[in-house]
Amino acid sequence: MKKIGLIGFGCVGQGLYLLLNSTGYEKAQIKSIAVKSKDKPRIAPNEILRYSADELIDDPEIDIIIEAIDDADAAFDIARKTIVAGKDFITANKKMVATHLEELTALAQLNNVVFRYESAVCGAIPIVQTIDNYFAYEPILSLRGIFNGTSNYILSKIFNEKLEYRVALKQAQDLGFAETDPTADVGGYDPKYKLIILALHAFGVYLANEDVLNFGIDSLNKEDIDFARERNLKIKLVPSIYQIDGKVFGYVLPEFVSEKDNLYQVENEFNGVNIEAGFAGAQFLYGRGAGSFPTASAVASDLDHVVNKRGYFYQKKIKPSTVADDANILIEVYTRFTNEAIQKVLAFENVTEGLFTEDFRQLTGYISLKQLKNVAHILKREKVSIIATGRRKLIGQKTTEKILEQEKRRA
Ligand code: HSE
Repeated sequence: MKKIGLIGFGCVGQGLYLLLNSTGYEKAQIKSIAVKSKDKPRIAPNEILRYSADELIDDPEIDIIIEAIDDADAAFDIARKTIVAGKDFITANKKMVATHLEELTALAQLNNVVFRYESAVCGAIPIVQTIDNYFAYEPILSLRGIFNGTSNYILSKIFNEKLEYRVALKQAQDLGFAETDPTADVGGYDPKYKLIILALHAFGVYLANEDVLNFGIDSLNKEDIDFARERNLKIKLVPSIYQIDGKVFGYVLPEFVSEKDNLYQVENEFNGVNIEAGFAGAQFLYGRGAGSFPTASAVASDLDHVVNKRGYFYQKKIKPSTVADDANILIEVYTRFTNEAIQKVLAFENVTEGLFTEDFRQLTGYISLKQLKNVAHILKREKVSIIATGRRKLIGQKTTEKILEQEKRRA
């Protein structure tokens, strides 16, 4: 039987401990658990508690390290040490994986260890393995979904129960869905990390955090919600990534979704992923994206792969797509702001709808992804509402039809 060293005993770690006890998994067993505080009461016996991650990594009896801590820098340190020590490594830390994906995949290959991170993306939805394995030899045209339980929970509570933003956020925190610093959730960073991880498996590309645009739901206000309601739309925080003619582009934006969109029905902490593949066509995966047991379930799935020495394929890395030029991507966005100088900052290519009042401007139009990225810091600082309509154009490409087809299906 393989021996596991579990580092971190919070929401995910405890979930895994209870899950393994309850299922009676026979191929591996937790030998030690590294925790920070000596004073907290724990659900595991004292004999297996340790107070140093290094002690577990250095323990020759431990074969597999499972890391479920919050701090991405400390997690990276653990990842490197574990892999260099020749032990298989499972992590739930999406920020750490997204930030160091290239280095860690190379290091794992070099040291011939299995490195897996299913629970880092969309909780219990088996999306990493599905894209990596099932779709290994099939072109992915797009991935689009709800990857963050906390912001979806908040939006659901606002839309369905008219709860206030702060109250809904507090509930998501109390339920264990939110990150320690919820800016990662509501600012759209957490879903961006997940998008970056999927981009490698789906398209073979390593995207840097700073190169992927993310807006969150933290700048949205009552007027934006009313605008959506009046049109029978909901607002969801949607990471999306498209491939057209071998060129890839992705971003995270709040988006208006209609009843006909699968994402419309995804509520609370649930996540959903729309996959558009070249031969399989469209698929929709739906499940719990956050919470102790759903996340632990994904870790347990990784554990069995690791025990059987099954790493990811990374098939798409052999012939990676190229990243599209941001200047060629036009995204239609709804914007709302009070400072009229913002209109110049936005530099719309063309405006499709506008409302000017004494108090605010509400403009919808096409902006290049490059421009949006360039001015994102100003728009965030000025609390400008930015919501994608779901329409976009790729300049200078023959097969914009593929996207238009997708849009037609969704419309
Ligand atoms: N904070 C994350 C979320 C946890 O709300 O989705 C799961 O990754």
